[in-house]
Amino acid sequence: MKTQVCIIGGGPSGLMLSQLLHLKGVETILLEKRSREYVLGRIRAGVLEHGFADLMREAQCGQRMDQEGEVHDGFYIASNGERMDRVDLKKHSGGSSVVVYGQTEVTRDLYEARDRMNGAVIHNAEDVKLHDLTSAAPYVTFRKGDEIIRIDCDYVIGADGFHGVSRKSIPKDVLREYERVYPFGWLGVLSRTKPVCEELIYARHQRGFALCSLRSQVLSRYYIQAPLTDSVDDWSDDAFWAELKRRLPPDVAGRLETGPSIEKSIAPLRSFVAEPMRYGNLFLAGDAAHIVPPTGARGLNTAASDIYYLYHALTDHYLKGDDAGLENYSEKALARVWKAQRFSWFLTTLLHTFPDSTPYDQKLQQTEFEYLFSSDQALGSLAENYVGLPF
Ligand code: APR
Ligand code: PHB
Repeated sequence: MKTQVCIIGGGPSGLMLSQLLHLKGVETILLEKRSREYVLGRIRAGVLEHGFADLMREAQCGQRMDQEGEVHDGFYIASNGERMDRVDLKKHSGGSSVVVYGQTEVTRDLYEARDRMNGAVIHNAEDVKLHDLTSAAPYVTFRKGDEIIRIDCDYVIGADGFHGVSRKSIPKDVLREYERVYPFGWLGVLSRTKPVCEELIYARHQRGFALCSLRSQVLSRYYIQAPLTDSVDDWSDDAFWAELKRRLPPDVAGRLETGPSIEKSIAPLRSFVAEPMRYGNLFLAGDAAHIVPPTGARGLNTAASDIYYLYHALTDHYLKGDDAGLENYSEKALARVWKAQRFSWFLTTLLHTFPDSTPYDQKLQQTEFEYLFSSDQALGSLAENYVGLPF
């Protein structure tokens, strides 16, 4: 097989790039290790910054998002069950907002668009291997059943997530990895209940952080901070709801509608960046190169700027013969990646209870919180990062 751009990974990053390139006449083949059902069974954050929503529209995939997604102009931060302040995103960011629309739905819309255009998407591609990445003729091999198939291409895009093969194909002496692992996780529950609030509530509390989010007016997503040693089996639905209520202001807890969980999972919190994001003719994008803790929902939104830069770099190469975008991709992408790292670290530090924090740390966290709601400049900084810094 032969193509111009071989994309590894059929998550939102890989799908979005193949769709955008296809619309400009650039050929791609996308290899996904799992079945489509498996990929669409994953539940992830549901807040899209406006830049990502624009990319969905440019990819001709924005119709359902625009119909079913909810535009949110603000969110709440509750503190120790005592006060609840609203962050007016529109006011403090100079007019921007976010779209609440599940990432699973984003992925579904992208797959459907790829199908409509007869996009080359190969599922259950096993043993994907990347070859000759620093030569002018790189190629990728994979196994389908007993057959080994080879794809010759100009460029390889590593969009295969944190556990993928692409980043691991870069020699250890070239790659530098930066990491912070947080000493807690998030226990998440999805329930067919009316959301407790029309906007998101981020709740800081001595017992630990909690988040009230939603997927629609009949589907709620809630999280509580939990020790890394806990497993899903340690938490019955009743125990989850009781603990969530303890961390919310009493009036919010009083109107919380509870019900059976339809999904329950624990995720660790991690910050991670791999540099550089280019090795020869391999370009990393999305979770393959960087991870953020979910606070602030930066994951997909950080992937979006990688895709935007690669989309423009590759179309400039193929349509105008201009390689500047490819040459400076890593540097440009990493500059925005690190800003998203900073913001999700800031929000995680502001809102969580750290098991090893000193009284000094706790005073600083409280001061940071009070400063935030006493300064329009501080709120402006929070809002501009939450709605997404420009690409
Ligand atoms: N070969 C082919 N595909 C692979 C391989 C492999 N060796 N390893 C992993 N994959 C696939 C995974 O099955 C997955 O479907 O790559 C895909 C990567 O998708 P994501 O993990 O969703 O990563 P990305 O597309 O960059 O999405 C970024 O989604 O994961 C969230 O928090 C993340 O919000 C962020 C966004
Ligand atoms: C979610 O809805 O899953 C969600 C929302 C906001 C976050 C994280 C997760 O900051």
